[in-house]
Amino acid sequence: MKGLLLLCLLPLFGGQRSSACPHPCSCKGNQVNCSSMSLKSSSLPTSFPAGTTVLHLHNNLLTSLPNGILDDLASVHSVSLHGNPWVCDCGVLYLRAWLLRQPPALKSHVGVNCSSPPSLRGRLVVYLSEREVLDSCHYWYCDLALASQVCLFVFVVVQAGLLVALIVFLRKFKRLSKEAKRTTEESFTAEESPRENEYAPLRDSST
Ligand SMILES: *[C@@H]1O[C@H](CO)[C@@H](O)[C@H](O)[C@H]1NC(C)=O
Ligand SMILES: *[C@@H]1O[C@H](CO)[C@@H](O)[C@H](O)[C@H]1NC(C)=O
Repeated sequence: MKGLLLLCLLPLFGGQRSSACPHPCSCKGNQVNCSSMSLKSSSLPTSFPAGTTVLHLHNNLLTSLPNGILDDLASVHSVSLHGNPWVCDCGVLYLRAWLLRQPPALKSHVGVNCSSPPSLRGRLVVYLSEREVLDSCHYWYCDLALASQVCLFVFVVVQAGLLVALIVFLRKFKRLSKEAKRTTEESFTAEESPRENEYAPLRDSST
């Protein structure tokens, strides 16, 4: 079953990683040229041919690199990334990590500088400290994490309140039911005894 699923999925992945030149770039042998095409991070091809050796991405409008986009390119030895308005917040961490892995001699990091936030403008991405990047990091998922923590706290408080209310209610209920039991017993015996007295003479007379 698993094998069958894999067989069905393989052509999908195979199709994605085809050797076709990704639109709108031009290709010459294993060189893929996507430079000066006003490419934004959202309009960047999702993958490149597996055999790519040289990849031009410079002079575009890229603000970040999608996570993992360069990881499968085993034979790549040059990627040009300069001349893009990189945004140096959480989203730059993948680009920074990739640049750090490149041999310094390739000079992949040259000209890869931040255009925002203002405090990091003009800084080379590869020399940013992790602290600096995380400090300027205001992403919706950070807010989401905070919101969910607050929600969790509120839930816990509400649950504790409900638990206390339940305990108080149960105690009150216990007391009330005890009281009710006592009063019914009392009224029962109070009701029963005169009747016994009523019947007593009858029973006495019948015998
Ligand atoms: C890459 O493409 C751009 C835009 O079409 C062109 O100006 C540039 O000369 C090309 N570079 C190479 C190395 O082919
Ligand atoms: C980034 O580097 C390029 C090339 O070195 C330079 O022309 C550009 O002015 C720099 N950008 C900023 C914001 O400093």
